[in-house]
Amino acid sequence: MAFPYSGSILQGHSVLVTGATGGIGRAIVSNLAQSGATVFAGGRNKVALDSLVEEVAGKVVPVDYDVTDENAVKEVFRTIQARQSDPDVGNFVGLVNNAGEMKEAGLVASNMELLRLQMSVNFYAAYQHMQLASRLMVRHRKGAIVNVVSQIGEQGGAGLSAYSASKAALTGATKSLAKELAPFGIRVNAVAPGFISTPMTAHYTQLQRDDVYSRVALKQSGTPQQVADAVLFLLDQCAGYTTGHVLPVDGLFQA
Ligand SMILES: NC(=O)c1ccc[n+]([C@@H]2O[C@H](COP(=O)([O-])OP(=O)(O)OC[C@H]3O[C@@H](n4cnc5c(N)ncnc54)[C@H](OP(=O)(O)O)[C@@H]3O)[C@@H](O)[C@H]2O)c1
Repeated sequence: MAFPYSGSILQGHSVLVTGATGGIGRAIVSNLAQSGATVFAGGRNKVALDSLVEEVAGKVVPVDYDVTDENAVKEVFRTIQARQSDPDVGNFVGLVNNAGEMKEAGLVASNMELLRLQMSVNFYAAYQHMQLASRLMVRHRKGAIVNVVSQIGEQGGAGLSAYSASKAALTGATKSLAKELAPFGIRVNAVAPGFISTPMTAHYTQLQRDDVYSRVALKQSGTPQQVADAVLFLLDQCAGYTTGHVLPVDGLFQA
């Protein structure tokens, strides 16, 4: 998205982005910080968080925690709540549930640990974040939540049943919470990327990539920036009349 980006309601307000140190997370943090928001950037890797703060122009506050640690998540929201009164931070108006784990394993070779890990990070943690975020947003009757789901959650993918189920669960919660939270001025949407070049997909061989691209109408992978631009659109006032939707960023992908 071209900056300076005028008319952003994020200016002077704060947002939380999970998985901020990942490929897509970094681009989301950068976009939101450039739009004038104070970005609480969540991640587990302190060194990567510090380098993100160095690299990104704008106000980025690192928050070092594991999204599956329920007490740590509560502490993060207590911190955000306490800092809202700082004019440099502003009201908390946005949440991006972006942290994710994808572990490929066919059903026969998979195990409950892999299922639990992906459900915990991709769904349970996102759900807790939405609960605590909405409690803060409800107070000023304004807010937007964007969940990063996946085309695999929409269409399924062989060897990805646990990942797909965890993302489909988040899509379901997105649509339900959009209805539940609309009366409080809170919108809930999702972006569903297809194949994006990030550390999550770095292990794909050229042969595997060619196979994926053969099933993408635009015949190439997407970029983290393209996903981040979709997130910014849904979070900001340009999407003020959009809630409960899943926006594909997938080059028209057939799983
Ligand atoms: N890349 C794609 O093709 C694609 C397609 C569809 C959807 N997505 C979704 O897009 C989102 C971002 O993925 P990405 O491609 O940017 O992958 P990535 O580079 O691997 O980033 C994933 C991020 O999630 C964080 N994370 C994982 N478990 C966490 C935990 N327990 N606590 C805190 N942070 C945790 C990682 O932190 P650490 O560095 O500490 O592990 C990392 O920052 C994910 O939800 C993914 O499922 C990606």
